[in-house]
Amino acid sequence: MTLEEKASLCSGHDMWHTKAIERLGISAILVSDGPHGLRKQPEGSDTFGINVSIPATCFPPACTTASSWDPDLLRQIGAAIGEECLQEQVSVLLGPGVNIKRNPLCGRNFEYYSEDPFLSGELAAAFIVGVQAQGIGTSLKHFAANNQETRRMTIDAIVDERALREIYLPGFEKAVKQAHPWTVMCAYNRLNGIYCSEQERLLTSILRAEWGFDGVLLTDWGACNDRTAGLAAGQDLEMPGGLDYNDQSIVAAVKSGLLAESVLDRSVERLLTLIARAQDNLRSDYHYNADEHHALARMAATQSAVLLKNDENILPLATSAKLAIIGNLAKKSRYQGSGSSLINPTRLEHALDVLGERSLNIAYADGYDRLSDNVDEQLLADACQVASSAEVVVVFVGLTELAESEGFDREHMRLPANQNILIERLAGVSENLIVVLLGGSPVEMPWIGSVKALLNMYLPGQAGGSAVVDLLFGNANPCGKLAETYPLRYTDTASARNFPGGPLTVEYRESIYIGYRYFDTARQDVLFPFGHGLSYTNVTYDRMALSAHTLTDKDTLQVSVIVTNSGSRAGAEIVQVYVRAVASTVFKPEKELKAFQKVLLQPGESTAIELTLDRQAFASYDVDTAAWLVESGEYEIIAGASSRDLRLKETVTIQSADCVPNRLEALADYYQLVTNKGKITDVAFAALYGQPLPTSNETARKPYTANSTLGDIKGTLIGRILYRIIINLAMKANTDGDLERQLATRKMLQRMMAEYPLRSIAISSGGMLTYGMMEGIVMMANRKFFRGVQKMLGSLPKRDRHLLSPR
Ligand code: BGC
Repeated sequence: MTLEEKASLCSGHDMWHTKAIERLGISAILVSDGPHGLRKQPEGSDTFGINVSIPATCFPPACTTASSWDPDLLRQIGAAIGEECLQEQVSVLLGPGVNIKRNPLCGRNFEYYSEDPFLSGELAAAFIVGVQAQGIGTSLKHFAANNQETRRMTIDAIVDERALREIYLPGFEKAVKQAHPWTVMCAYNRLNGIYCSEQERLLTSILRAEWGFDGVLLTDWGACNDRTAGLAAGQDLEMPGGLDYNDQSIVAAVKSGLLAESVLDRSVERLLTLIARAQDNLRSDYHYNADEHHALARMAATQSAVLLKNDENILPLATSAKLAIIGNLAKKSRYQGSGSSLINPTRLEHALDVLGERSLNIAYADGYDRLSDNVDEQLLADACQVASSAEVVVVFVGLTELAESEGFDREHMRLPANQNILIERLAGVSENLIVVLLGGSPVEMPWIGSVKALLNMYLPGQAGGSAVVDLLFGNANPCGKLAETYPLRYTDTASARNFPGGPLTVEYRESIYIGYRYFDTARQDVLFPFGHGLSYTNVTYDRMALSAHTLTDKDTLQVSVIVTNSGSRAGAEIVQVYVRAVASTVFKPEKELKAFQKVLLQPGESTAIELTLDRQAFASYDVDTAAWLVESGEYEIIAGASSRDLRLKETVTIQSADCVPNRLEALADYYQLVTNKGKITDVAFAALYGQPLPTSNETARKPYTANSTLGDIKGTLIGRILYRIIINLAMKANTDGDLERQLATRKMLQRMMAEYPLRSIAISSGGMLTYGMMEGIVMMANRKFFRGVQKMLGSLPKRDRHLLSPR
C-alpha cells in the first residue's frame, strides 16, 4: 500500500462506510447504529444521520433490558439483531453503550444499562457475544466517562483515578475481556484534560495493554480532534468520512517524521483484519424471521418490566373488572429513545389497541396533551369523569420525546406537570388507581402515596403493548428489578451539585459514590432502591452457606442460598449478592454488588443458587501503587432481594498478602463530607483528585480555536452567520415521524449543533465546509478578518473553486 492509501483507510468514506481501495481489492464495510435494533440508513442518507432507516425490530433499549438482570436475554437480543445485520449486510453494529448512569438527568440514560458497573458489564458482554456469534461485529461505546449530553463534544470530565477504575471503566473492561468486541468507539469528551480520542493512556495503555483489546478503535462521529495525535494514541478509524483533510495530515506527519510510519501500519493492519473478518461473514441470501423477533421483543419487555408497588395485591387485574384507561401514552406508546439509536420498527403495538383486541370492559380518556406541560382543564375533567364510573383506573404516564433524548439533558426530574396533576385528580375520584410508567430514566413521584400500584415499563420496544397488557392481567408475572436507584428528589443524588458542570469542565466530586453506593453510605432514604422489584408471587431465602469462612486473597469463595417460591404462581427471582467490608482503611461504599442470578421458580419450587466470588469481589483500586488490592479483615456476604431488602448474611475473614496503604486518614475530610451528605469542597476534591483542579471559567474560552463551539462564537458576526446557516440547514433536514418526533428531533439538532465544536462541523459536513474554511472562520471570529477571508477563499471545496475565477 502506498502511504496515501494507508492514510486513506484510516477515515470513513461517508457517514457509514469505510473506504474501499479498488486497486488492491480492499472492499468497504458498512457500519450502522444500534444498539437496541438495527438502524440502517438507506444509501445517500442525510449529513445529520436522522433520515428514516429501513424497518427493523425495535427491541426495548438498554434502560429496560437492564432491569431483566438476565444476560441470556441480552445474548438472545444480540443474536437477533445480529441476524438482522446479516440480512442487511451490515458488518458492525454501533453498540452497546456501557456508560454509567452518573446522574438521572443525562438525556441518554435510556441507552445505558445501570448505575452499577458490574451489572452493566455482564449485560453488555452477553449482548456482544450474541451479536458476534452471527459473524457481525459490535462497537462498545462511548469510551469513556461520557455521562452527559450537555457539551458532550468538548466537556472535560474531571474524574479521580479511583472512580475511573472502580466505576467508569469496569463495565468496559468486563465487556472487552469477556466478549472481545470487534471494535470500541471512543467518546467525544475530554477526560482529565485530554480528548478521549487522543488519550494514549486510555486507548493503548489501559484498553489494549491492560485489557488485551485487539480490535479497531474508532471515533464517535465527529470526535476526532488532532488526527495524528489520535493515531499515535491508538485510535485507528476516524468517523464519519467525507473529508480528506485529516488523511493528508497523516501523510504530511509521516513525511515530516512527526509520526512513525509503523504507527500508521499498526492501525492499517487492524483495519484490514476487521475488513477481512467482515467480508468473510457477509451473506447475500440471509433472511431473518420478523415474527420471531417481534415475539422476542415482547418477551424482553415482559421480563424487564418492574413492578414497583402493589398494595393490597391490586394487580393482577381480573378480566371482568370495569376499567378506565387514562393517558395518551396508552394510545400512543413511548417505546424507545430519540437520536442516533432511533429504530424504524417492523410493527408497533400500543396498549390501548391491544386492550381493545382482547374485548375487555374499558373506557378511555386522553388526560393530557403530550406536546406540552400545560394543564388542560377539559382533558382533566373528561379523564375524571371516565375514571369515576370505573372500578379500577389505570393511568399511563411518562416522559415524552421532548423530555429526554440524545443531544440534551433533562432539565428536571419531574414528569410533565400536567401528568402529575392528572394523577392527583384521579386519586381524588378513585381509590383503585394504578400507574403505568413509561420513560428512560427516573422521575420524582409526589403522588406515590395515593396510588395503589406502579408498573414501570421503561421504554418497552415495539411489542410493549402486549407486554403491558399481559402483565396487568397476570398472563405474565413481573420479574424485573431496578438497575438504578429512584431517588426521592433530584437534589438527593450525589452528583446533583456537579451536573452538568461547564463550560469547560465537569467535576465528578462524588467519586465512587454513585447510585446506591452513595445512598447507602450516606444513609439517604430513597423512593425505590437499586435492585427493587415486586412479583405476583413470594420468594423466600434460606440457608446461606459459604465454602469457607477464612480464605486468602488468592482463593475463590462459593456462596449458596436456597430460594423458594412460596406463592401460587410461577415467577422469577433475581438473587443479588453484595459484599461489605466490616472495617476498612480504604474508604469504600457501604456495600457493592458482586454477583447475581435470575432463576425461574414454579409454585412451591425450591432451588439452590450458587455464586462465586473471586479476588476482585473484595479488592479496591489503590491509586498509589496502581493496583487492585485486597485488605485483610472481615467481609460480610449479603444475599438480597434488593439493595435494601437484605435477606441473609454470613461473614468471611480474608488473610491477604497485599499491603494496603491507609487512605482513610489522608482523605478523612472527603469521606466525612460524603457520609454527612455535605458539599464536597474544592480542597477535599483536590486532595482526592491528587492535583490542582483545572479552571472551568468562561474567559478561558478565548481566543477561539477549532475546539470552540458554534455557540461559543455566536457572539461574533461570522459566528452569528454560521450559526444561522447551520441551524437553518438542520431545521430543514428531513425529520420523519409525527409532530412529537419532529419537534423532538428539532430540539435535539438545535441543542447539538450549538454545542458542536467547529472542527466537528467541518468533519461532519461531508465536504461542504472544508477544514481550511473552518480555520478561516476561527480567524475571523478572533478579529483577524482579512486573513480569515483569504484563508476561506483559498479553501473553498474543489467543486466551488469556479466562484473564484474571473467571469
Ligand atoms: C453517537 C453514537 C452513534 C454515532 C453514529 C453519535 O452522535 O454518539 O452513539 O453511534 O453518532 O450515529
